[in-house]
Amino acid sequence: MNILVVGGGGREHAIIAALRKSPKAEKIYAAPGNGGISKYAECFDVKATDVEGIVNLAKQLKPDYVFVAPDDPLVMGMVDKLNENGFKTFGPKANAAIIEGSKAFSKELMKKYGIPTADYQTFTDAKKAIEYIKSKNTYPTVIKCDGLALGKGVILAETEAEAVEAVNSIMVDGKFGKSGNTIVIEEFLTGPEVSVLAFTDGKTVKPMISSMDHKRAYDGDKGLNTGGMGTVAPNPHYTPAIAQECYDRIFLPTIKAMQAEGRPFSGCLYFGLMLTPNGPKVIEYNCRFGDPETQVVLPLLKTDMCDIIEAVYEQRLDGLDIEFADGACACVVMASGGYPEKYEVGKEITGLDEKGQCEDAAVYHAGTKLVDGKLCTSGGRVLGVTATGSDLTKALERAYKAVEKIHFDKAHYRKDIGKRALEAAKN
Ligand code: AMP
Ligand code: GLY
Repeated sequence: MNILVVGGGGREHAIIAALRKSPKAEKIYAAPGNGGISKYAECFDVKATDVEGIVNLAKQLKPDYVFVAPDDPLVMGMVDKLNENGFKTFGPKANAAIIEGSKAFSKELMKKYGIPTADYQTFTDAKKAIEYIKSKNTYPTVIKCDGLALGKGVILAETEAEAVEAVNSIMVDGKFGKSGNTIVIEEFLTGPEVSVLAFTDGKTVKPMISSMDHKRAYDGDKGLNTGGMGTVAPNPHYTPAIAQECYDRIFLPTIKAMQAEGRPFSGCLYFGLMLTPNGPKVIEYNCRFGDPETQVVLPLLKTDMCDIIEAVYEQRLDGLDIEFADGACACVVMASGGYPEKYEVGKEITGLDEKGQCEDAAVYHAGTKLVDGKLCTSGGRVLGVTATGSDLTKALERAYKAVEKIHFDKAHYRKDIGKRALEAAKN
């Protein structure tokens, strides 16, 4: 099987590593890929959001499958265009990717089908939104842009002043562009968060092992929200009983709801869950593999990834057992100093071998570039240093041991990835 993977971050590197493990995988291409990915896949300089460019690249390479990994091209309809041109794909069509592309859509879907989520209201008018906030007078309150906003379109407002400012910056000043023309204001929920990725062919849904993200930039969950500074799998809060409840009340109902709406979802559906005192609730859906969740989930996948891609495309996922290894996996993200705000790029990375890897760990490259044959930083999140172990303590030890060996100027990483998970596992 020859496969073109669209995207160029740590998630895509982990997907390519999983594909490489399959005896069926022959040529793997990436667009655009990155410095680290180029050691494992032939990279083409086409942007992941360039729908026409990717279709043309597929025509040139004639892959058996095109795996569209990031949210933007999925929401833009890249899969639809590829299918129209005769290519098989992994990833949802635009009419299903809307489950991530529009929060107003996903909230309405959950309400209509009784899927547990935070109470909410949708607004297209800033004045009405502010009136609603003032009349509710309950804080914190949560304000979300309807559309994609690079993971930054969610504001947790602690006071009326913060809430009003958030509405004005999104709806009046257009901080997130068109994504903020519609907003959702929702109830603030509490409880541990769990990420669950699931394979689905539109009829059957097979959840993968659970994981835990660490979104804030600094130790102790301080600092700004980022794309994710580290992950661990499995998530100790996600017990078998909770998993069953999520399957019955959230996963399967969501797949059935999408089918009933004439929007069958094919690919990987990401459930961002909060385990509230009133049971598990959906915080968000993503229409794709999570980043950096993928980096800790796929290394534990035992089933052949090529088999899964085929079963999903051919809608025979019900007949395929998807198995995960025992043990745990941890990913520590090494970022450029200053991220998620201003940071410098072009720093040489040392401590990696000629494949961009490090002994005892898998190094998934997120923001790296080859400059005169040398690996250099080229983004905010640079590397996801990942290790497995028989338990989380061992996985974390190995990941951090590898992190210590890797260097670049102003590198920043959190020292407490997995700490909360270990504490939860003890209780
Ligand atoms: P998102 O970008 O949708 O993943 O949201 C970012 C983060 O905001 C989530 O991971 C949660 O920690 C938090 N969040 C989103 N919605 C709510 C809510 N209704 N109540 C409490 N926290 C929330
Ligand atoms: N890690 C969260 C996401 O991929 O959106």
